[in-house]
Amino acid sequence: MKLSERLQSIVNFVPHNSIVADIGTDHGYVPYKLIESRKSKQVIATDISKDSLNKTISAIRQDLLIGEEIITRVGNGLEPIKPFEVDTVIIAGMGGTLIADILSKDLKKADSFIDFILQPMVASTELRLFLNQNGFEIIDEDLVAEDGFIYEIIHAKRGLELIPDDIYFEIGRKLIQNKHPLLEEFIHRKINQAHSIISDLNKHCDSLKAQERKYNLEKKLAKYQEVLECL
Ligand SMILES: C[S@@+](CC[C@H](N)C(=O)[O-])C[C@H]1O[C@@H](n2cnc3c(N)ncnc32)[C@H](O)[C@@H]1O
Repeated sequence: MKLSERLQSIVNFVPHNSIVADIGTDHGYVPYKLIESRKSKQVIATDISKDSLNKTISAIRQDLLIGEEIITRVGNGLEPIKPFEVDTVIIAGMGGTLIADILSKDLKKADSFIDFILQPMVASTELRLFLNQNGFEIIDEDLVAEDGFIYEIIHAKRGLELIPDDIYFEIGRKLIQNKHPLLEEFIHRKINQAHSIISDLNKHCDSLKAQERKYNLEKKLAKYQEVLECL
């Protein structure tokens, strides 16, 4: 099976011979690929929606993978997974605040897992902040361009990390250290977005709050420029 680049990047972060929980699996492509490629020994595919999980089951059944190697469970977040049952947890294709919410509900259980592969569709800054404040360290990150969007994929483990500048919550530090080939494009998109908000504020708002927003965006633009100069 050929995965989209976003899903393939998630699979790339999964350690060999792992036992995985794919939380919010929906179509089940990731569990399928992990077993088909023999990267994982077993995957527990979960979803809060029975309908979504039925999609997984019918896709997987066609190839008779269901049973020992792919187990499906309906449930909210980490609830369907027992402590120490898996070593790797994937939570992908959801908002960063929902991912943080799922982890925060069971941090003690999270202590029993090793690798976390997280792919926020939005609010990646909030997710990185949550990870930093709740005993996770970011081991690596990837960016993938697909359908006009740049997706962020985060590989984290339990641990402590000192973050020397808030900009690293918005732009993954590992992406900067590794000079990721898509990072320039990613930052230019942020710069364009900030310019367009500033121009809207200039046209329509004159309040103190708008002035403050503009000031913060201009500070951010200077930071984006600093990061660009490191690349
Ligand atoms: C957009 S799909 C993402 C599917 C796949 N993980 C991917 O990255 O392509 C989001 C899935 O997460 C499920 N979901 C949402 N909230 C959840 C939660 N709290 N626990 C488990 N699954 C959840 C939804 O039912 C849906 O099937």
